[in-house]
Amino acid sequence: MSDLLDHATTPSSPPATTPDPWWRQAVVYQVYPRSFADSNGDGTGDLPGITARVPHLVSLGVDAVWLSPFYPSALADGGYDVDDHRDVDPAIGTLEQFDEMVATLHAAGIKVVVDIVPNHSSNRHRWFRDALAAGPGSPERERYVFARGRGEHGELPPSDWTAVFGGPAWEPVGDGEWYLHTFAPEQPDWNWDHPEVHEDFLTTLRFWADRGVDGFRVDVAHALVKDMSSPLPTAAELAADDLPDGAHRFWDRDEVHEVYRAWRAVFDEYDPPRTAVAEAWVATHRRARYASPEGLGQAFNFDLLRSDFDAASFRRVVEENLRLAAESGTSSTWVLSNHDVVRHVSRYGLPDGMDEAARARWLLSGGTDPAPDLERGARRARAATAFLLALPGSAYLYQGEELGLPEVADLDAAVLQDPTWLRSGHVDKGRDGCRVPLPWTAEGPSHGFGPGPSHLPQPSWFAAHAADVQDRDPRSTLSAYREALAWRRRLRTGEELVFEDAPEGVVRFRRPGGWTCVTNFTTRAVPLPPGRVVLSSGAPADELGGELPGETTVWLLPAD
Ligand code: NOJ
Repeated sequence: MSDLLDHATTPSSPPATTPDPWWRQAVVYQVYPRSFADSNGDGTGDLPGITARVPHLVSLGVDAVWLSPFYPSALADGGYDVDDHRDVDPAIGTLEQFDEMVATLHAAGIKVVVDIVPNHSSNRHRWFRDALAAGPGSPERERYVFARGRGEHGELPPSDWTAVFGGPAWEPVGDGEWYLHTFAPEQPDWNWDHPEVHEDFLTTLRFWADRGVDGFRVDVAHALVKDMSSPLPTAAELAADDLPDGAHRFWDRDEVHEVYRAWRAVFDEYDPPRTAVAEAWVATHRRARYASPEGLGQAFNFDLLRSDFDAASFRRVVEENLRLAAESGTSSTWVLSNHDVVRHVSRYGLPDGMDEAARARWLLSGGTDPAPDLERGARRARAATAFLLALPGSAYLYQGEELGLPEVADLDAAVLQDPTWLRSGHVDKGRDGCRVPLPWTAEGPSHGFGPGPSHLPQPSWFAAHAADVQDRDPRSTLSAYREALAWRRRLRTGEELVFEDAPEGVVRFRRPGGWTCVTNFTTRAVPLPPGRVVLSSGAPADELGGELPGETTVWLLPAD
């Protein structure tokens, strides 16, 4: 019997080799704090709510949680408009409650990662208010990206750039100057050429690291540094296909890596060193720069999230990302859902080939045109998740995916909170449908989210997905996640993977020690390869009858 199998049958035995840093193959669970659990009934999730739900995270078997922003914020962008990076929003809790949450998570063996938002602050940040009050030419304005408008009185924006959420990227302040906001107008961009901005972020990193935080998720890590030299190019010039790497005025500039080298020095002041993962929506070949050991160390790879449920695409994504990760000395990351995208149960239930624009039109139809096949979406989602969890590297899960939640696609326009809805001129409903507060219980106000209402309305069908219902059902998605995470932990092995021959539409790969994962992406059954099935994303192993059904993943160990 191999080392791996010895280890597999005695899960508590120590790994045979020196353990890698915890993050390299961790399962990280993303908590969107306002929608996770509400302890006081005000309709907003909070830190004591998270602390109270640590048993759920333990039974799920995650290694770490990543908390989306919980900082003071007017919620112009779900908390990514930060008033003060070194405090907790009173609606979410206090610093003491943060410490209690960290202590409870740590006592349960779960690491804590917090979100750092370095491209912009909110327009309520003290330094931005100082900048507005101090006026043009003042040192206070230099911490942000202000520029004089065009036209005799500065009445026209400095350039025709558009913001990510729609509308112009410049906002006038009434004295001939405009400020840049890559996202919403309430999110003024920092000027990363300013030493005080650098220093302030180093202080923020130390502030949380000193409170026991283990790592950081870095928001739009590929923004920050900008070239604002005159003349500013037009939006069309910036969008040119032949723009060389690093030449864009505000995305993915090479200088941004100097920022992360300084951050690395701070991470390495701690023992163990603090970790980071970059959210960088850059071309695959540029991602390694963010993930380098001298920089943030790891970067999100959204390639699976952007792929259809398709054997060739999944295999290509895995091959390319493992090669890139190895080249830059990091481990790969894998993601199927997060707080910015349509949940993967719904994506996989929609026709293949739909892009983001098509999904935005689908949301606009209230999720009816086309009608998703949610049974199929759930089947494929479980198969894709089991595939992802068998890969070397770290897996990022988004709250609620363990309950198999589909997108809430029919939220009424009147309740939408995402700035995208307004800024896009009511064309893009935005991301609220994946941020609806979690159903913990079938009964009760807000399905157990809290003792009161929920800040986004939950549909009645949430009852069937409630954690307490799934807890009792060995065939539920929650049980499937628990089982997969438990087996993943037991089978934890070296970061290698070898693809093996498989029929058309089937992907089969082996991990060191004989752990094999096979996913049938087609709709027809294929013969099961030899081995002992320890995990199935569909029917239980003893019901498979020698076949691997369509849209199903199994994990196999060598037969005894
Ligand atoms: C990326 C975050 O994931 C998203 O939610 C946010 O709106 C933007 N960055 C701006 O901070």
